[in-house]
Amino acid sequence: MKARFTLLPGDGIGPEIVDQARAVLDAVAARFSHSFVYDTQLIGGIAIDETGDPLPQGTIASARESDAIILGAVGGPQWDDPTAKTRPETGLLRIRKDLELFANLRPVRTHVQLLDASPLRRDLIEGVDILFYRELTGGIYFGETTTSEDGLTVSNAMTYSVYEIERIVRMAAEAARTRRGKLTSVDKANVLAVSRLWRQTADRIMATEFQDVEHETVLVDAMAMHLLSRAKDFDVVVTGNMFGDILTDEASMLPGSLGLLPSASLGSSGPGLYEPIHGSAPDIAGKGIANPLATILATAMALRHSLGLAAEAAAVEAAVDKALDDGLRTVDIARGEESVSTSTMGGAVAASI
Ligand code: IPM
Ligand code: MG
Repeated sequence: MKARFTLLPGDGIGPEIVDQARAVLDAVAARFSHSFVYDTQLIGGIAIDETGDPLPQGTIASARESDAIILGAVGGPQWDDPTAKTRPETGLLRIRKDLELFANLRPVRTHVQLLDASPLRRDLIEGVDILFYRELTGGIYFGETTTSEDGLTVSNAMTYSVYEIERIVRMAAEAARTRRGKLTSVDKANVLAVSRLWRQTADRIMATEFQDVEHETVLVDAMAMHLLSRAKDFDVVVTGNMFGDILTDEASMLPGSLGLLPSASLGSSGPGLYEPIHGSAPDIAGKGIANPLATILATAMALRHSLGLAAEAAAVEAAVDKALDDGLRTVDIARGEESVSTSTMGGAVAASI
């Protein structure tokens, strides 16, 4: 098949890891006789520097015409000025919103080869397999922001409407049906009115449309604890934008590194956006030591979810496993032992495809 990818390397380690994702896609195209074309565009801090806008028109136009979007990362200390008119992160939030990518899938699976890379005990993490559904275009990230006249009080509103809750809960529950049949909805309903609407809505959808899926509700503070004490009990977890942001960074310590976790941001139609869940890691940018596996696994998700290429996606995942089996480790997962570069890791994955 012919497919068109928009590549958004962004800032920090973004360009290095997206290069490896592209090498892997080229290997998939060669091995399975597809024709992939790429259009590289600006986003984030580099886009601010070059155009004044963290999400230039050309980027959003290219993204809309693509089959899938692969993003590296955005942000860095040079754009951290709190008085600046715009920030790199605004570009990412806007592309999610403009393309209505309301569902952010974040699979957290431990790799048998890396059980000792986690700061957590082996018996706690062996066999962990959680799929987070983080709502991505609502909640406190997109609520009304107000500043008092004297500038001394600022607020961000956490807002959800029934419609937004229903569509993410439905999508998560469908996924649970194809997995172990269990959905955990996370909220803060003992304190927040918006969470009480979330819970009511989730309870109703589950009771009326998904009687075959086991459903439980957990408060977000308790969930933070359960992820460390009994992560194996969870199958699909659905939650709002900010709780999902925080819990998935926490959950990344189960497999041992933020450098291993991919994500897919999907709407009800149109291209999906695929990115690692980690950030731009400015401290190691340009050194060629970043772990490209999260981005490579994100391209596997792109092949599966946006292009319907399940065998190709599985081939990428198997190639990642093989690289780990062969003992290749970037510095984040090397535990002080010998490590390989970003391009050695990416090249090994591409070669075994
Ligand atoms: C993520 C990131 C982003 C978010 C930032 C970079 C805006 O932390 O994708 O998890 O908060 O959504
Ligand atoms: Mg985050």
